Amino acid sequence: MVSMMDLRRSTLQIHLKPKKPYQSAADGRRHASHLIRINLVFLSLFCFWQGFYSASHARPGGLARLCMDELTMSTATIGQAYNYKVVRQFIVATIVWGVVGMAMGVFIASQLVWPEMNLDLPWTTFGRLRPLHTSLVIFGFAGSAQFAASYYAVQRTCQVRLFSDKLAAFTFWGWQSVIVVMLISLPLGYTTTKEYAEIEFSGAVWMTVVWVAYAIVFFTTVVQRKTRHIYVGNWFFGAFIVVIAMLHVVNHLSIPVGWFKSYPVYSGATDAMVQWWYGHNAVGFFLTTGFLGMMYYFVPKQVGRPVYSYRLSIVHFWALITLYIWAGPHHLHYTALPDWAQSLGMAMSLILLAPSWGGMINGMMTLSGAWHKLRTDPILRFLVLSLAFYGMSTFEGR
Ligand code: HEM
Repeated sequence: MVSMMDLRRSTLQIHLKPKKPYQSAADGRRHASHLIRINLVFLSLFCFWQGFYSASHARPGGLARLCMDELTMSTATIGQAYNYKVVRQFIVATIVWGVVGMAMGVFIASQLVWPEMNLDLPWTTFGRLRPLHTSLVIFGFAGSAQFAASYYAVQRTCQVRLFSDKLAAFTFWGWQSVIVVMLISLPLGYTTTKEYAEIEFSGAVWMTVVWVAYAIVFFTTVVQRKTRHIYVGNWFFGAFIVVIAMLHVVNHLSIPVGWFKSYPVYSGATDAMVQWWYGHNAVGFFLTTGFLGMMYYFVPKQVGRPVYSYRLSIVHFWALITLYIWAGPHHLHYTALPDWAQSLGMAMSLILLAPSWGGMINGMMTLSGAWHKLRTDPILRFLVLSLAFYGMSTFEGR
């Protein structure tokens, strides 16, 4: 009788036709990397198919209705029903970390001109404070802003209170404690040395616990929604949460030798590739995707009109998710990384322009017929300006 194992093995042989058993460990590694590439291609094709299938079955009327229902809701009547406390807390944290993080930016920028400002102390050198600046602005400032926006928008678009007030409060205090750990440990010199992932093992584990709690609060709220559709902004917040979890865990895989010292499980070019797969997508998902979620809620809201194109939002969502993840190698041009990986990363970065601009165009075009509001509405001016800068900075490079 043929066992399942034999069957699977023979199926693999049909597809890959290995001519002879592996001669060496290097052969085995090459085969494994071939398999990974095949799987990634299939995954991408699946995402593209999913995008085009959803787009061709899109019901713009449904989304427009949802958006307009939400737009006509009064904040006063729903103020009691929703958890705005945690939203306010995260907004305050955004301002605090924004001020501290950018002050740190000004300090290290000054050190580039006046190096003596490092005070001849190890804790205040550029090398230790630069990662502190990036961690504070990315995780403290941008992170808190996205927690606030996602908790606010998910409740209003799903017309249901956050799944658990206690768990939401845990995510607030948990996330703040992660930033405090960074604030203390980085100047002290504890670092993985991986850019944007400098927090050492124990801090990284704690960060994962908080992030999982965030995922539970967000996705359970979506599941409990009273509306039929999942509003487009929530797809972006959802993708941000899932992909950041994946990036953080994979890049932080390491062997701890103490509470604040660990060694990565990867080495050499592989370690560099994993790091820049993380680093690039940290920008893509921590500093882009969540903010697109924010854009999809606040631009239509402020304009008082539904999103310009539901189809475009679906296509550029899936294209963004599918393409972003490939472009990391462009951080490693002219290095020991294999040429094929460098070329692939470069090609994907060029293609990535299309979905990035898809979001920018969809936001801008939402103003169709309402451009006159720019004359009187300063909030809208800020929103349009940020869309314009998003378009320009994606043109400059992802
Ligand atoms: C007052 C505002 C800011 C100042 C003065 C400032 C200053 C700096 C300086 C001096 C560097 C190091 C550059 C180098 O190593 O050559 C830097 C890097 C960086 N900053 Fe800022 N920054 C500010 C705001 C922000 C904000 C708001 C963000 C993001 C939300 C941010 C994200 C980053 C990132 C990601 C890097 C690393 C760039 C790279 O390695 O290519 N900064 N910043």
